[in-house]
Amino acid sequence: MEAIQNEACVVDFAKAMRRLASTVCVVATHDDVQPYGMVATAVTSLSATPASLLVCINKDASSHPVIERVGRFSVTLLRKDQRHISDRFGSRYSQAERFASSQWKMSMRWTLPCLENAQATFFCSLARQFEHGTHTVFVGDVLQTVVNDEVDPLLYADGAYRCLDSVQAHLT
Ligand SMILES: Cc1cc2nc3c(=O)[nH]c(=O)nc-3n(C[C@H](O)[C@H](O)[C@H](O)COP(=O)(O)O)c2cc1C
Repeated sequence: MEAIQNEACVVDFAKAMRRLASTVCVVATHDDVQPYGMVATAVTSLSATPASLLVCINKDASSHPVIERVGRFSVTLLRKDQRHISDRFGSRYSQAERFASSQWKMSMRWTLPCLENAQATFFCSLARQFEHGTHTVFVGDVLQTVVNDEVDPLLYADGAYRCLDSVQAHLT
């Protein structure tokens, strides 16, 4: 792999990936003691049968071993006005500080964190996982989905937060 992936290839990859616009999500879980969560944009729909998705999580992330151990996680799609949540879950803050907002609730059914007024929340059971490079791909079978009627996602593209207001909604 090293022979075909030279430094220029990696630089071009990083530059091109900045063009991949994504909805900002919080991937979260909960062990016997406390919730854990982090921002992730590497989140993809996988299959409708079974309803499933995948998330790519860095092996060094503090949530990583907890997702493996607990075998469940939630994926919360943030709204445009929830950038402060992303700022909290992106780095530095302790897990207690990340979940300090009263907007965070616990789904008693699944023992997983969920956020009031999010775009959508998927409660997932870990179906399988595999490692590649620095990350683990976690595949989740969806146990329940909560969805908001309004479509107003917090987006991330070219290293900056964005929203649909600045984009033509429907291309013809
Ligand atoms: C916009 C944005 C998107 C991110 N997407 C991912 C991602 O998809 N996967 C990942 O492992 N980390 C991602 N991160 C980085 C983690 O959120 C960050 O490293 C987090 O602090 C890791 O959790 P920890 O501090 O609890 O270890 C992203 C960060 C930001 C700001």
